[in-house]
Amino acid sequence: MRVIGIETSCDETGVAIYDRDEGLLGHALYSQIELHQAYGGVVPELASRDHIRRLIPLLRQVLEQSSTSRAQINGIAYTGGPGLVGALLVGASFGRSLAWSWGVPAVAVHHLEGHLLAPMLEAAPPSAPFLALLVSGGHTLLIRVDGIGQYQILGETLDDAVGEAFDKTAKLLGLGYPGGPALERLAAQGDAGRFRFPRPMTDRPGLDFSFSGLKTYAMNTLQAQGGTSSGETQGDEQFRGDVACAFQQAAVETLAIKCRRALQQTGLSRLVIAGGVGANSSLRERLNLLGQELGVSLYYPRLEFCTDNGAMIAYAGCLRLEAGQTEGPAFNARARWPIDELQGLRAEG
Ligand code: KG4
Ligand code: ZN
Repeated sequence: MRVIGIETSCDETGVAIYDRDEGLLGHALYSQIELHQAYGGVVPELASRDHIRRLIPLLRQVLEQSSTSRAQINGIAYTGGPGLVGALLVGASFGRSLAWSWGVPAVAVHHLEGHLLAPMLEAAPPSAPFLALLVSGGHTLLIRVDGIGQYQILGETLDDAVGEAFDKTAKLLGLGYPGGPALERLAAQGDAGRFRFPRPMTDRPGLDFSFSGLKTYAMNTLQAQGGTSSGETQGDEQFRGDVACAFQQAAVETLAIKCRRALQQTGLSRLVIAGGVGANSSLRERLNLLGQELGVSLYYPRLEFCTDNGAMIAYAGCLRLEAGQTEGPAFNARARWPIDELQGLRAEG
């Protein structure tokens, strides 16, 4: 079975082709970062319009890259949600129309299931059951995965997602959008011993997170030292680096504390890290240490598949289509879509 995956949930247009026997045959990504940079964040209407412009050239590119003709395609998978509804509608209507005109089935893929399963595209994929830490711009979740579609949420953020906290703190530090990678670079110059930020919600039992206070703590630290909260930080480079470093350390340590707790509570011996913040090297180093200490194996997608991409959608869609999941001709686009509403599959990949 050979499936096209289409991702348009936010600010990246991704198209990929996955073959059940041959693996990932091609993938292409167009990032809208430059388009949104001037606004300091994603402008939903601009995102939708740009997805329209990019989809056909990207599709042509992956078909060519993988020497695939349309007759070889057995299905279309598109991101059905959660995400920006206008952006989702572009991918959903494109994917559905393509499926209809090529006479193949289509399936709406849950964006977070895509992220969760991205490590399956690597050489030594994890087998279920495993614990997954899903850290993106919109979500922070600890999930117990017992099979494809069998997801139990163990903990989640009560306010900002960790990626959102990175982005907002980066803005306070006068860094551009997207803030996560820029903050990581600035933090590398910081002195880890200068400030100690709190580790939110780690002093009480439970696996939920709260990251909005960390951003406020960063703002207060900046203000107390003469920085402004408007993004025009007056502080010198070293001071800004020290704040970035303290923020990153607190975010990473908080995630590590909750992962340790979840691993100990569940007794699981495999940990998957997925989503954009999973690209953060300080988080990777910290979790690697935790893994060594607890005898837990860690699994990451390759860096380019931590952030949004079409490959993870093609993979998840292929499993669902292969298991016979079908849907009517109406297309699905859901801004909100709880992952634990997904149907489990008998076949495991
Ligand atoms: O998974 P993703 O591409 O999109 C969503 O589904 O949200 O994640 C994007 C998020 C952004 O908040 C971005 O700042 C963050 O991931 N991010 C990082 C890094 N790379 C991306 N955060 C910290 N360190 C990074 N290296
Ligand atoms: Zn994502």
